[in-house]
Amino acid sequence: MHADIEKVLLPQAQIADRVAALAAQITAEHLAAAGDAELMIVPILTGAMIFCGDLIRRIPIAMRIGLCTVSSYPGQSLRSQGSQVLSQQLGDLRGRHVLLIDDILDSGGTLSLVIPRLREMSPASLRVCVLLRKNRPEARAVGVDYVGFDIPDEFVVGYGLDYNNYYRNLPDVVTLTPQAIRAKS
Ligand code: IMP
Ligand code: MG
Repeated sequence: MHADIEKVLLPQAQIADRVAALAAQITAEHLAAAGDAELMIVPILTGAMIFCGDLIRRIPIAMRIGLCTVSSYPGQSLRSQGSQVLSQQLGDLRGRHVLLIDDILDSGGTLSLVIPRLREMSPASLRVCVLLRKNRPEARAVGVDYVGFDIPDEFVVGYGLDYNNYYRNLPDVVTLTPQAIRAKS
């Protein structure tokens, strides 16, 4: 797998530091706004799985987890093909404090689809956290509360992000060589 890496954009230690800081900020802001009310964590699968796992273990607040699976880069695509909710297990969000978590904000299609669906369920609050945000106007146009890193508009994998469902287990966020992209297509 390491021969497939073109460059390391975010090494794992840098990600871990930022995730800890995000968790501290989310915790403090939740306690200030909602006291000891529970959180409802909603990771957008599959990409947010690893980020969510690291983030929530640093948030010492009672929480439950709901799931939402969205497809936007099906298979071998390097650009969003339009988002589609494939399944969700959210339970009743009415009156709950929801934290929606995604891996990366790119075209904004995924969050523009999911955020209104969650709002319709009348949560007490809805905050949105993404690990990465690409440097493009469409991404900045989507209102999110927490951003781990602003990155260049490049295709990245690792730490949950995939190409054709590969590379999610890389601990760093990296770009791939053209040869790797061909080989995994
Ligand atoms: P958006 O809907 O275009 O904002 O993109 C969001 C989703 O597309 C993310 O949740 C990812 O699953 C996927 N995605 C966007 N950019 C990348 C990338 O650079 N690498 C891998 N997946 C990406
Ligand atoms: Mg995704």
